[in-house]
Amino acid sequence: MRFPRKKGLRERAIVGVVTRMVDNKKVINELNAALSMEIAAIVQYSHNSYTIMGPWRGALTGELESFAKDEMSHMEYVSEKIVALGGVPSTQPAAINTPATWRAMLEADLAAENAAIDRYKTIIALADELGDVDLKKSIEDITSQEYGHKEALEKFLKEPM
Ligand SMILES: [Fe+2]
Ligand SMILES: [Fe+2]
Repeated sequence: MRFPRKKGLRERAIVGVVTRMVDNKKVINELNAALSMEIAAIVQYSHNSYTIMGPWRGALTGELESFAKDEMSHMEYVSEKIVALGGVPSTQPAAINTPATWRAMLEADLAAENAAIDRYKTIIALADELGDVDLKKSIEDITSQEYGHKEALEKFLKEPM
């Protein structure tokens, strides 16, 4: 006498484990790409805060330094989550762009924020698909902070009326 139902359940469980491993790998890869962007953002904002010159230096140094600290907290969450999912956090920064003028610096920062927001939107969709409530909520909170950075940079770059 065979027990096909039991065997079926076991097979389903194995398929489930394999599927989760594949899904985890996908999330880990996405998170590592985001992590590289966070590492680059910490360096880029810190560097900007030291080197920015011009009439807005006084206003911008503190702001850029505080953005670097926000990016550090994003780096911490993303790294911890990669480890929780069984991955190894990357130590590779994405491209770091440090042009000479204050306007070019802020434009480079804005481009990096937009790229980070796009990356996080992909991760939010993936987290939703996987039902990982912590990942979804935490990445939404991080993305909301990236929007804050993006909007502040856009205001700094806007010509006065
Ligand atoms: Fe960030
Ligand atoms: Fe940011």
